[in-house]
Amino acid sequence: MMEIPDEKKRFCIFGAGSIGCYLGGRLAAAGCSVTFIGRKRIRDELRHSGLCLTDFTGTKIHVPPDGFCFETEADAAGEADLVLVTVKSAGTLEAGQTLASVLNGDTVVVSFQNGVSNTGWLRDSLPHQTVLAGMVGFNVLNRGMGRFHQGSEGGLEVEQHPDFAPVSPVFARAGFPVKQRKDMLSVQWAKLLINLNNPVNALSNLPLKDQLSQRPFRQCFSMAQKEALAIMDVAGIRPAKLTPVPPRWIPGFLNLPDRLFQILAGKMLAIDPLARSSMWEDLEAERITEIDYLNGEIVHLAEKLGQSAPVNSRLIALIRDAEAGGNRTWSGDALHNELDRARQVS
Ligand SMILES: NC(=O)c1ccc[n+]([C@@H]2O[C@H](COP(=O)([O-])OP(=O)(O)OC[C@H]3O[C@@H](n4cnc5c(N)ncnc54)[C@H](OP(=O)(O)O)[C@@H]3O)[C@@H](O)[C@H]2O)c1
Repeated sequence: MMEIPDEKKRFCIFGAGSIGCYLGGRLAAAGCSVTFIGRKRIRDELRHSGLCLTDFTGTKIHVPPDGFCFETEADAAGEADLVLVTVKSAGTLEAGQTLASVLNGDTVVVSFQNGVSNTGWLRDSLPHQTVLAGMVGFNVLNRGMGRFHQGSEGGLEVEQHPDFAPVSPVFARAGFPVKQRKDMLSVQWAKLLINLNNPVNALSNLPLKDQLSQRPFRQCFSMAQKEALAIMDVAGIRPAKLTPVPPRWIPGFLNLPDRLFQILAGKMLAIDPLARSSMWEDLEAERITEIDYLNGEIVHLAEKLGQSAPVNSRLIALIRDAEAGGNRTWSGDALHNELDRARQVS
């Protein structure tokens, strides 16, 4: 890996969806060799239109169909120097097993997935490869027909490792200066705390900006975080600081009155009216969500410690219900009452 010049490095994106197409497209636009592995429906879209990548600052990048390769079988990953795994968490085990049959020992694999377990699962399947934890700090919406939109600011973070260091400037050229960190598990737990809003956003059926502008929805998010922080405390898990506000202060910050929250949050996080959570996208597309790997991790941790996590458990139940066709347009007050009731009953 070290001997190959940066500009010749071959990237494979395993899981061509929102994050995969956005990251891979930006790398292709920066002149990298990129092969996507994904589903036929996405291949057919990209074959006609290529990729149109936009962001919250107004950037617009077009990558023509001949600017990348797209395969529906994993064999093409065998040629790659770096594989970015961007499937949803439920697809990780299959991705690991598939990659194990095609990768050579020099390939570096980075999981750019949410949740705290994916990297470990990939390592179990790929004992001969360097497998690194990654974190995507921004939001991407699939707008259809090859159009992917980054709706919020945020960067990439990757586990510090000598096999990743040479490739880091390539990401910077593509517009993603990567923060290389030693404490990726703390980063992943901190990201998971932020992702506890995913079910709240999905159940609100609103763009993130609208949802977060309403205090009752923020209070739901705050309750889920507060509960998670208490359980993580018992487990000795210290989340990293990813935002200007330290993790422990975020629940209180979310509880602020609307006007004050909007002023302070507006100074800290650029987010545009299109941004939505990927859990909302999953419900919209009638797919099973990642709830078990996000709020489910909190409930699982609580159970291991002989504790309970009624707020996160209730959010899981409501998402299950929404997956089965139930209510997915909650008002902030109704959702807040529902979670409050669950907390009081336990
Ligand atoms: N979207 C965001 O804004 C965002 C932000 C930060 C982090 N993340 C995290 O990034 C990860 C990816 O999220 P996403 O929103 O990009 O998911 P996504 O849009 O569902 O993309 C994943 C794609 O991979 C495909 N896939 C799954 N298994 C495959 C296989 N074995 N072979 C080929 N293709 C396969 C999926 O197809 P099927 O649907 O048919 O399985 C889907 O098209 C998640 O862990 C998510 O939490 C997302």
